[in-house]
Amino acid sequence: MSDRSHLIATGKPFQFDAERDAMFERLVVRYPTRESMILPSLWLVQEQEGWVSQEAIAYIADRIGTFASKVFEAATFYTMYHLRPMGRYHICICRTLSCWLRGKQEIVDYLRGELGLAPGEISEDGRFSLEEVECLGHCGTAPVVQINGEFYENMDVDKLKSLLATLV
Ligand code: FES
Repeated sequence: MSDRSHLIATGKPFQFDAERDAMFERLVVRYPTRESMILPSLWLVQEQEGWVSQEAIAYIADRIGTFASKVFEAATFYTMYHLRPMGRYHICICRTLSCWLRGKQEIVDYLRGELGLAPGEISEDGRFSLEEVECLGHCGTAPVVQINGEFYENMDVDKLKSLLATLV
């Protein structure tokens, strides 16, 4: 979906908002070392901003007391971290076997036809982005779609159409 070897700079300093700051402080005491906080911190950044910027990497490294390269390695290795801005609603469609057999492609084709949205793209209005991902762990209720972290199971085109209409 993006070049995972490069980070985008916003040109603006990053810091956690009050809610994420409090969350960081609650979590940090529960981990054996401060470096164990790299992945949770990246989640907090993504929850706050929707993606992880160069400034956010530097902030986490500073906050944890580690090298920015270690945070960079984690952010670029795990594909669930977005390294560029996504749509307001980020749609992940499972493309693994159960979902593939049970019609994930009809959903992908619908999104391409209806919204002009192909995997790896962001809609022109910035409302949606689409990504095909590996198994989401709900194979018994395939096909599975995840939108901003929420799971929607036994999906089909009609259900997705109704769901997208509620996402403004
Ligand atoms: S194969 Fe789609 S959730 Fe497992």
